[in-house]
Amino acid sequence: MTVREQSFMDAILHGVTPTNEQCIAYLNAFHHRMPGITSEVMLGLRTAEGRTSYEVVADRIAATEPAGVLDIGCGDGELLVALKWRSPRAALAGIDLSAEELALATTRLAGSGADLRIASAAALPFPDEAFAAVAAHLVFMLIPQVESALREVYRVLAPGGTFAFLLPRPPKHSTHLSDLLGKLTRKIAIRYPEFTPFSIGNRALFERFGIADLLVSAGFTALPSFDDFEVSAAFDAESLWRAISGRYVLGSLDEELTSELRNIVFSAVANGEFEYRESLRLVAILR
Ligand SMILES: C[S@@+](CC[C@H](N)C(=O)[O-])C[C@H]1O[C@@H](n2cnc3c(N)ncnc32)[C@H](O)[C@@H]1O
Repeated sequence: MTVREQSFMDAILHGVTPTNEQCIAYLNAFHHRMPGITSEVMLGLRTAEGRTSYEVVADRIAATEPAGVLDIGCGDGELLVALKWRSPRAALAGIDLSAEELALATTRLAGSGADLRIASAAALPFPDEAFAAVAAHLVFMLIPQVESALREVYRVLAPGGTFAFLLPRPPKHSTHLSDLLGKLTRKIAIRYPEFTPFSIGNRALFERFGIADLLVSAGFTALPSFDDFEVSAAFDAESLWRAISGRYVLGSLDEELTSELRNIVFSAVANGEFEYRESLRLVAILR
């Protein structure tokens, strides 16, 4: 963990709700230290039909044949790369708060003409109705001012345009991963009894009705569609530890606690394999 991650971590380990500024500073510091970690883990996971979650989002957007697409929180550019393949004539744009993530995206999309900028989802540097489609892959659940960010999506989306965004979803039944995360959380709580695990972003985004309400408040009048699916892979112990230590909070603990968590993670791998399964939800809505 770096000093820049410390004030957010101090808050949540001691049961204090972090401020929006602490959340943003934490996310920035985390991505500064581990740029590209999201796509590194998520690209290893597949749907039952063999697609990555980036392909699921890109296919949904490409089906609308948009003239221009904005990817919010584009990270290292993985979704934009998938979109480039599917919609080669679409003008692509991406924004992210992290300079290090954006530097990776800039290298990967060199020569594509993609317009990549450092910006906040809550203040998009684009004119009204500039895009036929807006996409986001695992971003909106992190944004403290999610209401402003959704209003910004509505503003920059052209009438009739599509907004498609991917969110994590609580699994319907316990999984090996949810059991393991429970064990890790309990371990942290032994040292920090006030620890509150879910402290970034707006919890309303974990429920369909919460998402629908937020979209209405942002100005959307159409009904959203929800496509719930899972991605999974068999991870060996090292890949599992990389994925766990690439998660927010779990990857930002002190050395001693990190080593205790590592032991728990390694002992969760039976016969060399661990079934890593994420539950996801693609939300799509027309402007
Ligand atoms: C979990 S990563 C996902 C990155 C990428 N979309 C992907 O799935 O590979 C979240 C990304 O959102 C960015 N981010 C978080 N909050 C943001 C905000 N308020 N405005 C813009 N970007 C933000 C982070 O810097 C990070 O790159």
